[in-house]
Amino acid sequence: MKPITVAVNGILGKMGREVVSAVCQQQDMVLAGGADIKASQNTIDLPFSRGHAPIFKDIAALLDATKSDVLVDFSVADTALNAIRVAAAKKTNVVIGTTGFSTASLKQIEAIAKDNDIGIVIAPNFALGAVLMMHLARIASKYFDYAEITEAHNHEKADAPSGTALATVRGMIQSRGKPFISPQTKNFTLENVRGGQVDGVTIHSVRLPGLVANQEVVFGGQGQTLSIKHDTINRECFMPGVILAIREVAEHHAFVYGLEKLLHLGGT
Ligand SMILES: NC(=O)c1ccc[n+]([C@@H]2O[C@H](COP(=O)([O-])OP(=O)(O)OC[C@H]3O[C@@H](n4cnc5c(N)ncnc54)[C@H](O)[C@@H]3O)[C@@H](O)[C@H]2O)c1
Repeated sequence: MKPITVAVNGILGKMGREVVSAVCQQQDMVLAGGADIKASQNTIDLPFSRGHAPIFKDIAALLDATKSDVLVDFSVADTALNAIRVAAAKKTNVVIGTTGFSTASLKQIEAIAKDNDIGIVIAPNFALGAVLMMHLARIASKYFDYAEITEAHNHEKADAPSGTALATVRGMIQSRGKPFISPQTKNFTLENVRGGQVDGVTIHSVRLPGLVANQEVVFGGQGQTLSIKHDTINRECFMPGVILAIREVAEHHAFVYGLEKLLHLGGT
């Protein structure tokens, strides 16, 4: 069978490099090239004895030169939308890991997929374990009235709480159809010590050097607690999800939002 040719936008970034390594380890894929605004050379060396691949500053030049089946984008939201438009015009399928799209941009991306009959998979979290953690939290939410979340990330993370923590709470509330019960503390001897609250769920955000990304959802009930925990050890955790998405878009020309759809995790 003909291998899937993959191009990467943001190829010199942390995630872009990880994608190069993951693609080069697949028998059914070829890393065709990449684009990055920081590109200062014409080629990059590929790992696993895969030789070299061309790199460009310009996404259109990349797709013209490589005629890739799939473009994987891990860049920045502003630039990613343009990359998607360029790819669609050239009938290239797209996998998007870049985060930070507005709701309006997501609607535009969905329309681009339909209008051009290409596949687009967009997932704010490609880590299989994180997606399963959110799914299991949705299930448990129907059976417990109390829940708290502790999310822990690297000290350089700009925002708090994490988007994953907020998305977890949204899914939990959607599943149980009502807010959780929030215990009322009478006397505070330290300000903000109970964290932030969304729909009765308290979120605690830890920021420390050395951490990558962790989240624990703890449910409380009569005489018991239930903990669902996901630990990210390094960026490789995103790659099985990205590789799954590449195979999916190469085969099915549809718009898919969220890795949970590709894992066939039904609604709870
Ligand atoms: N979906 C997921 O599971 C997941 C996981 C990790 C990170 N992310 C997201 O992926 C994105 C990239 O993350 P990162 O850690 O690799 O960041 P990074 O800053 O290391 O890499 C981004 C790369 O994009 C390049 N770039 C910027 N503007 C460009 C342009 N106009 N054209 C081409 N390249 C351009 C930069 O030069 C850089 O090399 C972020 O949005 C991040 O939130 C998503």
